[in-house]
Order: sequence, then structure tokens, then C-alpha cells
Amino acid sequence: MSVVEATAQSIADAARTLREGGLVAFPTETVYGLGGDATNARAVAAIFEVKGRPQFNPLISHVLDAAAARAFVRWNDTAEKLAATFWPGPLTLVLPRAEGSPIALLATAGLDTVAIRAPSHPIAQALMRATGRPIAAPSANRSGEVSPTRPEHVAQSLGARAPMILDGGPCLVGVESTVLDLTTATPVLLRPGGATREAIEAVIGPIALSDAIPNGDAARKSPGQLHSHYAPSRPVRLEATSVSPDEGLLAFGSTAPEGAMLTMNLSPSGNLGEAAANLFAMMRALDRPGIGRIAVMPIPHIGLGLAINDRLRRAAADDGSHRQR
Ligand code: TXA
Ligand code: MG
Repeated sequence: MSVVEATAQSIADAARTLREGGLVAFPTETVYGLGGDATNARAVAAIFEVKGRPQFNPLISHVLDAAAARAFVRWNDTAEKLAATFWPGPLTLVLPRAEGSPIALLATAGLDTVAIRAPSHPIAQALMRATGRPIAAPSANRSGEVSPTRPEHVAQSLGARAPMILDGGPCLVGVESTVLDLTTATPVLLRPGGATREAIEAVIGPIALSDAIPNGDAARKSPGQLHSHYAPSRPVRLEATSVSPDEGLLAFGSTAPEGAMLTMNLSPSGNLGEAAANLFAMMRALDRPGIGRIAVMPIPHIGLGLAINDRLRRAAADDGSHRQR
């Protein structure tokens, strides 16, 4: 199906599709999501199928606000503080499943926790209001590919499998939400994302990085983090300070080396917010015939740089499988 303008009518149609167990792709401030009714196991199964996603990797449930979240998860004071500061916005909280929570078990891959967030994008909010259900939504791409930040990326990635795509233009944040586990004494950053570690720590004090927890445990906690995700089909070389003529250069800042086949600059002024917003679209643009490899300049490891470097490391981690996906 195709990209449709988001109007009161198309949003009402999309909401009906969701209530009937169908899927809809919609914009959030981070990336486009492939949404289904989180309380409908068959809709959730369809999400896994369309994405080609392993069923052990749980999905985020999207809600309007903290009041709505309380029906699905066991809420606590830390969640309350974080939601007051970051919701609606790019922060996902992992909390214990509430007793009698109607979220489908398949959505949480059988875990006794639920990942939940309130997106700030007005189209996402209008869709949730019209649907009246929590919406399970992973990024709207085939599993293992770069997340879509424009409606045409969704259409390209899902092809004939794509459901109705609500057009919200380019995503303003451009990297996925931060995933924070609140089920441990010290909260654990499972995935760096649009809400920075520094901003979170300013609200709740020190948090732990998932690198600090043993590998098996991290796998159990956030199964999605183990794979070489976000991979373009060409090899990616990080920390590039010079380039060769067969490379496409993903530059950052004002001192890009000359000589690449094609250069795209994430942010000529060195702004990390602008770089995050451009990241996936530029990775896609450099992933084209004629370019042998994508070289990436160093990105400062502060603020949104954590999320950007996380995605770049995954893109560069060649586990030998992503080129076939
Ligand atoms: O920005 C975003 O988060 C986007 C938009 C659409 O909201 N969604 C997104 O979903 O990135 P997805 O499915 O691509 O990533 C969800 C991440 C995965 O790393 C998954 O393992 C983790 O959240 N996750 C989901 N449920 C979890 C749970 N109960 N415990 C731990 N990690 C969980
Ligand atoms: Mg994803």
C-alpha cells in the first residue's frame, strides 16, 4: 500500500484498521513505526511476520501518557519522575507487567516486563487517541535494516508487505528512543537513544550502562541489542580521518577529508541533534552502487553521540549475515 497524507479521515481509517487487527505504519518523532493493537496477539504476530523479526525480540507499546501506562505496567516513583520530564518524547521505560495487563504476551516475547513509551509526534498521538488502544510498534523496516526516518524508506524497506503509511515527513529526532530498564535497583540504559544519558541522570541520578552487565544477562534483558542491527549492505569503516576514492564518506563537522566518491555531512557545524536527524537517511543514500565502502568520521561520544555511535558500531559490526538479509 502507499503513502497517504495524514488527515482526520485517513487517521480515522488507520484507527479502524488497527482496531480490526490490521497494521499501519506511522511517524513518531524518532523513526517510523509499524503499528498494531498491542492487546491483539494476531496483530502482534503480523508485525513480526511483516518485519521478518525473530519472535524473541520484544516490542515497545506506545501510549498517550503516564495515566494510560499505569493500566499496563507496574508504575513507580522513578517512572513518574522520568515521564514528567521526558514524556511525551523519545524515552522508553521497561517496567514489570501489571497484573492483568492486556498487552499480548507475544508483544513482550514472554518477558514479565513491558517496554512502554509516549511518543510526542502529533500524528502518532492523534492515531492513539482515535484507536483507544496501546499500539505495539517496532521501527517500520525489515529486521536488520536501517530504521526509516521518512515515509518512502518504509515503502522501500517493506515493499509489497507495507501497510498504509501515514505521511509525517522526515522524523525530527532521527534515532530510536532511549530504552531504560527500571526493574533493577539502579536503572540500566539498554539502548542509547533520543533522550540523552546526561539528561536522564540530571533527573534520577546515576544509571548503569548495559555494557556493564554480563552478556547473557544483557541478552535476556534486551534481546534486540545483540544483533548487528541498522546495517547498510556495504561495509562500514569507523573513525575515518582519511578516505579512498571508492569510499562514500559520512562526514561530521567542518574538517571533512577530500577525495571520497561521494560525501554527505551529518552536520557541517558539528551539531549532534542535526547529525542524529540525518543519520539513517544519509546511511541509506551512501549505500548505493559504485560505492565500495562507507567511511564514517569520528563522532563525539557525548549527548546524542552515544546513540549515534551505538548505531554506527552496529552498522560496522559485520556478523557475516546482514548482507544476505
Ligand atoms: O523510537 C523507537 O523506540 C521506535 C519507535 C517506533 O517508537 N521503536 C523501536 O522499536 O525502535 P524496536 O522494536 O525497533 O526496538 C525496541 C527495543 C529493542 O531493542 C527491544 O529488545 C527492546 O526495545 N525491548 C522491548 N521490550 C523490552 C523489554 N520488555 N525488556 C527489555 N527490552 C525491551
Ligand atoms: Mg528496530
